[in-house]
Amino acid sequence: MADKMVSYKEIGIVNTREMFKKAISGKFAVPAYNFNNMEQLQAIVNGCVESDSPFILQVSAGARKYANQVLLRYMAQGAVEMIRATGSKLNFALHLDHGDTFELCKSCIDSGFSSVMIDGSHHSFDKNIELTKQVVEYAHKHDVTVEGELGVLAGIEDDVVAAKSVYTQPEDVEKFVKATGVDSLAISIGTSHGAYKFKAAQCTKNAEGVLVPPPLRFDILEEIEKRIPGFPIVLHGASSVVPKYVDMINKYGGKMDDAVGIPASELRKAAASAVCKINIDSDGRLAMTAMIRKVFAESPNEFDPRKYIGPARDELKAMIIDKNKTVLGSAGKGKEIFG
Ligand code: G3H
Ligand code: 13P
Ligand code: ZN
Repeated sequence: MADKMVSYKEIGIVNTREMFKKAISGKFAVPAYNFNNMEQLQAIVNGCVESDSPFILQVSAGARKYANQVLLRYMAQGAVEMIRATGSKLNFALHLDHGDTFELCKSCIDSGFSSVMIDGSHHSFDKNIELTKQVVEYAHKHDVTVEGELGVLAGIEDDVVAAKSVYTQPEDVEKFVKATGVDSLAISIGTSHGAYKFKAAQCTKNAEGVLVPPPLRFDILEEIEKRIPGFPIVLHGASSVVPKYVDMINKYGGKMDDAVGIPASELRKAAASAVCKINIDSDGRLAMTAMIRKVFAESPNEFDPRKYIGPARDELKAMIIDKNKTVLGSAGKGKEIFG
């Protein structure tokens, strides 16, 4: 049976327009946390309520398949009620991460998402415009906001992190934004997805022997800002690959050699600029995995999932509060936006 059509407005959530406006004027970024299960959702919602941070609940196509698209949507709906029960007026956007077809974006819009990403970055410039425009036309009829992408985020396997062609070309952005009508734009300035963002050979070592990645291309970001002033920019692949969690995973039986992310200082700098959405998935995975490994190592006879997923959920929530306060600068901004 097909899922019944529902507008995000009936669910009581918001699109990204107002929060991005505030993020730009207030020089912070809204965190976009990926989720695919109940404990992640609880950690995100409770962490953001506690730190009074606007947030974006992000669902990938893979997450939708994993958790069941209908269930995920009702979980988000449940989150609204959970927030209201605390007395908070905080709100959030439910966002499709890396939508790759019009049909997928439409399906999300029709089932209560308030924001979608159409990722046409792997297509030619013209095809990217055509696809993005098609999604924008449908989405805007429903007051749903759309994120497009220009430039390709390098994966470590691509061996192209340093190649100029993968970065967003600033001279393309104005035409893309005008031609498509997108509400925000994901760009490529040196971040990449996953826990292995850079090869060891691309990094230098600091005094403690810790790998330091090449800096983000803030020159490209500045050039983009000049061409589309005040336009909301999005940073994907923006996990720090928090060293504390990588160390914990390695200490308790895991093996994550040379996992390197984006230093928090660079993300703070980006958040104070036109970057108003920062995507974080890998750091959440690491926090939960680190804690689950610790519990398993220290309590090998434990078999109640609540006893290991519970501490993992608590660790994720603590990480989210810390990120909102110290990296995104979004903590305390909820009341300014939602009263
Ligand atoms: O950018 C991708 C996100 O980290 C989602 O990952 O497709 O494994 O759910 P996923
Ligand atoms: P990370 O893998 O760095 O967490 O990036 C997540 C992301 O960009 C989701 O779209
Ligand atoms: Zn991404």
